Amino acid sequence: MENLFSMAAFPSFLIISAVIAASAQQQRYSRIYLGSSLTPTTNSSWLSPSGLYAFGFYKLTNGYAVGVFIAGIPEKTVVWTANWDSPVFPSNVVLQLRYDGKLSLQQKDRSDIIIASASASASMLDTGNFVLYDSSQRITWQSFDNPTDTLLPGQHLSAGKEIFSSASATNPARGIFRLKMQTDGNLVQYPVNTEDKPNYSYYSSFTDGKGSNVSLNLDNNGLLYLFNGSSIILNLTTGQYRTKTIYLMRIDVDGIFRLYNRLLDHRGNWTKEWSSTEDKCIPKGLCGLNSFCNVTDRVSGCECLPGFDHVNPGDWSSGCERNFAMEGCKAKDQNVSYEIRSLDNTEWEDTNYADVKDMTREDCIKACLEDRNCGAALFLGTLSQYGSCKKQKLPLRYGRILQSDELRNGPRIALVKVSTSTTVSENSVKEIKNEPKRQILIIGISLVALAAVILAISWVYVHRNHARTYTISNNKNVELIEDVGLRAFTYAELVQATNEFKEELGRGASGAVYRGILSNNKIVVAVKRLEKELAGEKEFQTEMKVIGKTYHRNLVRLLGYCFEASKWLLVYEYMSNGSLADILFNPESRPCWEERIRISLDIARGILYLHEECETRIIHCDIKPQNILMDEHRCAKISDFGLAKLLMLDQTYTNTGIRGTRGYVAPEWNMNLPVTVKADVYSFGVVLLEIICCRKSVDRRLSENEAILQEWVYNCYAVGELNKLVGYEEVETQTLDRMIKIGLWCIQDEPSMRPSMKIVLLMLDGTFDIPVPPCPNSFQSSI
Ligand SMILES: *[C@@H]1O[C@H](CO)[C@@H](O)[C@H](O)[C@H]1NC(C)=O
Ligand SMILES: *[C@@H]1O[C@H](CO)[C@@H](O)[C@H](O)[C@H]1NC(C)=O
Repeated sequence: MENLFSMAAFPSFLIISAVIAASAQQQRYSRIYLGSSLTPTTNSSWLSPSGLYAFGFYKLTNGYAVGVFIAGIPEKTVVWTANWDSPVFPSNVVLQLRYDGKLSLQQKDRSDIIIASASASASMLDTGNFVLYDSSQRITWQSFDNPTDTLLPGQHLSAGKEIFSSASATNPARGIFRLKMQTDGNLVQYPVNTEDKPNYSYYSSFTDGKGSNVSLNLDNNGLLYLFNGSSIILNLTTGQYRTKTIYLMRIDVDGIFRLYNRLLDHRGNWTKEWSSTEDKCIPKGLCGLNSFCNVTDRVSGCECLPGFDHVNPGDWSSGCERNFAMEGCKAKDQNVSYEIRSLDNTEWEDTNYADVKDMTREDCIKACLEDRNCGAALFLGTLSQYGSCKKQKLPLRYGRILQSDELRNGPRIALVKVSTSTTVSENSVKEIKNEPKRQILIIGISLVALAAVILAISWVYVHRNHARTYTISNNKNVELIEDVGLRAFTYAELVQATNEFKEELGRGASGAVYRGILSNNKIVVAVKRLEKELAGEKEFQTEMKVIGKTYHRNLVRLLGYCFEASKWLLVYEYMSNGSLADILFNPESRPCWEERIRISLDIARGILYLHEECETRIIHCDIKPQNILMDEHRCAKISDFGLAKLLMLDQTYTNTGIRGTRGYVAPEWNMNLPVTVKADVYSFGVVLLEIICCRKSVDRRLSENEAILQEWVYNCYAVGELNKLVGYEEVETQTLDRMIKIGLWCIQDEPSMRPSMKIVLLMLDGTFDIPVPPCPNSFQSSI
């Protein structure tokens, strides 16, 4: 498939051309008798009397195929292929017109493959038709009756028959599109493996009801027409007599059928004269499941639904699947929240399980978000703001971007449900934020209308909720910091949970972390004992409220705390795969390239949330691999956020009080300059480079020019030796280039040069063109 579109960019995109071995002998035969044989390397084909057509072997990249090809032109264009379901043979195959009349392909230790039978002789005709005769000279079999992907002048596709595209430019096997001459008189194109039903078709001659015996015909002048046995019912092409010109019609690899002509001389070439459509996105099934076709600069390509990645990049028909980040973390997070991303002006197969009329786009978004089964909804708007909302289960297929003239009846929008944390687009964020407002508005209106009833119901609702809260706190002896779901533990409880702080999980600047098990629900937790002098109890409570309100898939969740006398402890969810440092710097657990990219995205999303999405902006101040923990699905989560204020006391930004860790801290820390969110961007940049290269930012064991990662990366980037950075690991060069550029932008000395986390995410997503980064310290003088 990979050549499909590039090929289509050329004026004459003829697919399979036969290569005849130079040593092969070719003779012209008017008649081929029983006992004659061909092999790929010696006597490889039988020519027609004029020498224009040949029947025999033609070479493919991985073997040989048998068929009819135009031998009289340099391209040796193939027009028919034998044994289409498995057309490729090794060089030791022999083609023989056996004495029993069968035309067969013979291979050592394999049973013969019979191409055609019951014959007394054969002939390669000058029309391109290869025929077999019985002893009374009657035709018993002909290639014209069994077309593969091509029709030649004089050949027809009779009622009930179909032709198929080839699999690829280099593989003549049956492909994924078909053209059928139906017995209802209609000529229709479908993807393979579908029923002959209108909702699968992507081309129709609209001639149904014109007779049961209509055939598709091509004449010597390039006239392509439908004939009902007595008269022409439709001309597809105009046809024009030209001297020394041959024509052929073929359903190409891309699913479109076209008429080509070619002057019969050695300098000529195939020229497209007519095609069933000019829109390369029309053929259904060109893009696999959950992807849609888009044409840019006359070249078509397949894009995934938001939140999906290509299964096999380069093979579009393989489609897209949910990207791992979502799947991996979904099971863990019970409360994944969803949002809707919209794909405007797209068309999909409609297999809805619910179709609600007279909805606005917003109603449709809401309806899908509220319905667990809804994977996507197709909103088919009218010119007013209302339309129908067709709820779908995934996968979606046959997607394509519509042309502007196809939108006459109103917008065609696909609304795709994705988990919140996998997306960053401005639009979607807005949409989400709009939702609660809408609900409030609806409730407000209802209240006016049905005040008494609603009040009564609300009272019951509120009352019941109160009762439930009361029950919980009573049973479990839980105290809650006002409206934050944090639990206050007693010191004794945590001593018991950690078995007297027996199992230390790690130790950082702020204190040691211990494994614990909560006695009431057997949840495994990580208990952090803060060992430094801390701010007062009031500040502690304030910070706990801030942290308690954060909730994001890529942040380690704080479950509770304890402050008793001089004891300060924090209780976090337990991360079973340790820290990023553990897996990244250990050659045995080193994540693969794709996983490293996913981890980078996870971290970036977590930081973005801290910076821009949670109620109180949080600057982490200590982003480093040791503070990034991995859950059981190896989903990266940031820990230790929100502690900066607590631990720094009043020593604002001085050298003595810096919390950041050497190697990761932004230069402004050391210069008594105000610290902003851009300090985290710097640290993220360093971590990103570490993730790319799987090494620490400072490694004195390495040679001098490699010891400081930031410098080494820039130097390699400057001389274009990116492969060195990944130790010549096989990674996608484009992605590597993108990741390195992002890293270099993040570690700019000048804070204002660094992108915001939002931009970083867009860059990581590949939706943002990244300019060439300057040398990280070239703007140093300005700070
Ligand atoms: C189709 O074209 C042929 C040749 O140009 C012409 O004779 C015939 O009338 C046309 N038929 C229709 C239905 O257009
Ligand atoms: C094909 O032939 C046409 C007409 O002779 C000519 O204009 C065109 O440049 C040729 N294309 C190629 C690729 O040779």
